[in-house]
Amino acid sequence: MATAIEAAGWEIRDGIVWRYRTGQVHSKRHLKPGWEAIVVGRKPLAESTVEGNIRKWGVGGFFAEAEKQRSDRWPENVMEVPKPSPAEKEGNKHPTVKPVELMRRLIRVSTQRGGIVLDPFLGSGTTAVAAVLEGRGCVGIEAIPRYVELARYRVAEAESYQEGDYQ
Ligand SMILES: C[S@@+](CC[C@H](N)C(=O)[O-])C[C@H]1O[C@@H](n2cnc3c(N)ncnc32)[C@H](O)[C@@H]1O
Repeated sequence: MATAIEAAGWEIRDGIVWRYRTGQVHSKRHLKPGWEAIVVGRKPLAESTVEGNIRKWGVGGFFAEAEKQRSDRWPENVMEVPKPSPAEKEGNKHPTVKPVELMRRLIRVSTQRGGIVLDPFLGSGTTAVAAVLEGRGCVGIEAIPRYVELARYRVAEAESYQEGDYQ
């Protein structure tokens, strides 16, 4: 993944560990998986500084301080979030659903309120749900029509929540 990102002309800026703890044992001869890697890439800055890029385009850096003000903790590049519970996955038959909480954290540290998140592999729409809940817009691309339908349903449901309904 990182090689493909660099080949496309982007820069690798960081790596994030998604620590989910609850992995299944696939084999007694392998260690039980407990994390997944998230590659953080960035298009080369259009402006000469990160601050200038954020001012003009709203992207280019992490919004660590905003997250610190919100939760009183500096965000780390290890994110501990359990895999989606059966309740969170109810009615969702996508095989690789991500937790909404993980996507909310990633969106908060990498975008500002009012920004637009692009997910070119939308699946059941978890990124779009997280974007709605964090006050961002989302553009999603998904090849399989039944997942597009599911994503639309989940987004409409998220849009119907009042602020504070969803933890
Ligand atoms: C890992 S899943 C995303 C899961 C999603 N994060 C969720 O929580 O539901 C990747 C999705 O990308 C879609 N996909 C794969 N290649 C694609 C392509 N070339 N164009 C559009 N969608 C594609 C697959 O159908 C699959 O649903």
